[in-house]
Amino acid sequence: MSTDTPTYNFVAILLHWLIAVLVVAMFFFGLYAHEQVEALRAGNAELATVVALFNWHKTIGLVVLVLAVLRLVWRLTHKPPPLSPEVPVLERMLARLAHAAFYVLIIGIPFVGWLMISAAESPSYFLNDTALPIPEIWGDDREFRETLGDVHKYAAYGIMALLVLHVAAALKHHYRDGADTLARMVPFIRPRGRQNR
Ligand code: HEM
Ligand code: HEM
Repeated sequence: MSTDTPTYNFVAILLHWLIAVLVVAMFFFGLYAHEQVEALRAGNAELATVVALFNWHKTIGLVVLVLAVLRLVWRLTHKPPPLSPEVPVLERMLARLAHAAFYVLIIGIPFVGWLMISAAESPSYFLNDTALPIPEIWGDDREFRETLGDVHKYAAYGIMALLVLHVAAALKHHYRDGADTLARMVPFIRPRGRQNR
């Protein structure tokens, strides 16, 4: 596949949007599941429902982990198209930093989740099916599990904050700077083509 096309290639775009939708959905899913734990403590939710919610959170989260690793491998083996000259040097550096942080977070958040449930005493199941236990990668350790719970939560807040900056930057480049950044990642936006052809 060509490495200097004006837009990201199909696989990069597909993985970008699939992971973006899943991460945002998983953030709100996680908050909701956490709320249900509180409801359970207050006697307003069923244990089986809360367990099922978390098993689904874990299952989808591990799918995100696999997709994120695939995406990193794809990124390391396929150079992205060069940025348009309208984007100032400082903003290029910030974009690179933000993108690297995204890779760390899209892999780190689900991986920490996996470590966390491994350190927990109770088992977890793919698809909420007791025939499909999620393999454990750490021994039971209550204190470590709690620390990982905090890391998981704050990293999830962190990725949402980064997302706000990322979207703001993408829109600024498109609408204010007239650069073709948005068209590189959104297939139905036609590149203006000035510097890309
Ligand atoms: C959690 C959600 C998201 C994550 C994790 C994410 C992550 C990333 C990453 C890592 C890149 C760099 C691609 C690479 O070079 O490998 C990127 C590029 C890009 N993203 Fe996102 N993104 C998210 C959501 C969005 C949204 C909602 C928009 C809509 C405005 C968007 C617009 C873009 C654009 C336009 C680029 C291309 C930037 C360039 O030309 O270099 N992203 N994104
Ligand atoms: C993109 C992936 C993921 C995102 C964005 C995400 C996000 C979240 C959020 C926002 C919470 C609520 C935190 C709170 O308010 O305390 C949460 C809780 C939780 N997540 Fe995830 N999660 C992801 C993947 C995973 C994975 C892969 C696992 C395990 C295999 C997992 C296990 C858990 C557990 C056990 C909790 C409850 C933590 C606690 O009660 O301390 N998550 N997640």
